[in-house]
Amino acid sequence: MVKKVVTDLDLKDKKVLVRADFNVPMKDGEITNDNRIQAALPTIQYVIEQGGKVILFSHLGKVKTEDDKADKTLRPIAERLSELLGKEVTFVPETRGKELEDTIASLKNGEVLLVENTRFEDIDGKKESKNDAELGKYWASLGDVFVNDAFGTAHRAHASNVGIASNLESAAGFLMDKEIKFIGGAVDEPQRPFVAILGGAKVSDKIGVIENLLDKADKVLIGGGMTYTFYAAKGIEIGTSLVEEDKIELAKTLLEKGGDKLILPIDTKTTHEFSNDGVIEVHEGVIPSDQMGLDIGPKTIELFTKELQGAKTVVWNGPMGVFEMTNFANGTIGVCEAIANLTEATTIIGGGDSAAAAMELGFADQFTHISTGGGASLEYLEGKELPGVSSISNK
Ligand code: 3PG
Repeated sequence: MVKKVVTDLDLKDKKVLVRADFNVPMKDGEITNDNRIQAALPTIQYVIEQGGKVILFSHLGKVKTEDDKADKTLRPIAERLSELLGKEVTFVPETRGKELEDTIASLKNGEVLLVENTRFEDIDGKKESKNDAELGKYWASLGDVFVNDAFGTAHRAHASNVGIASNLESAAGFLMDKEIKFIGGAVDEPQRPFVAILGGAKVSDKIGVIENLLDKADKVLIGGGMTYTFYAAKGIEIGTSLVEEDKIELAKTLLEKGGDKLILPIDTKTTHEFSNDGVIEVHEGVIPSDQMGLDIGPKTIELFTKELQGAKTVVWNGPMGVFEMTNFANGTIGVCEAIANLTEATTIIGGGDSAAAAMELGFADQFTHISTGGGASLEYLEGKELPGVSSISNK
């Protein structure tokens, strides 16, 4: 179904409820990465330009008790957003009630208001997270139209996305629309050859994605910690490397299903303990019994670079090694470089750790799209329907 986008709505003079995903990393009350706030700006700016009144909703972290409230307030987000927009953002430290309603009533066209963390409603009965019908209806009653731009939350059916959308005409914001086009487009209508690169520590986190992409992609390159569960499935000695014993059978099934399409690393960077400071070796095949693999080796980087050549669509999810330790970052850097060199391809990072890695390693500008979703991108890549997306009004 084709979803409405914000440009399909008449916004002038309207109270426009906008769900963003401002669930950003924070340390000691400071935002440590504001990518998600930046990514929401085009939609907010558009509503302002169209003469709408912007009423923003977001969650931040998990809120279980009154004590959690102090460091889960959205006040710092309002301050950062105000800096980025270059205009005042009125923060209402409530999720319902007279203060919120009166402030909304006094909003003028082009003004911006941020409602307190929607998950404050979880303290008493998980109203937000369980998509309480009354709460969704109440929030919807505060506006005239709803714009859902929170792709990162699209795998959740909560009151502030699905609940509001069930009670108001709604549309995708620019970020949501972009994520649907890039990730959905790559999985459903890829330009071929379509190569997927999947990494990360555990097979168990990626089963759905591997299964779905083995159906859809022309090649699936595997790296990261989950390599060793696949090695174990092939009977290759893995030393003390990470392994999920209970997923070895599954890995065998995936290997059978994948055949030539599924490509494993051919060499491994190893060391004696989980540390950046030990002696490093590279092994092809068998890993010595007292060593663990923490990154793909140089021959694998070469192999993956070759396999990527000529690709028209590339989706990458999950680092190739423990990139946080400099000695085990080369695999992830190598894959970033190989993808960055593909000038003819649509290249997509499916959020989470790999997005963090690409940004940290300085490759952020060299991909067509870096998803702002973690769990949401993963579920989208698994081919699942996302409730936050399906609840948006159809065109
Ligand atoms: C995320 O960071 O993946 C989203 O904001 C969803 O957050 P959640 O996992 O706490 O629901």
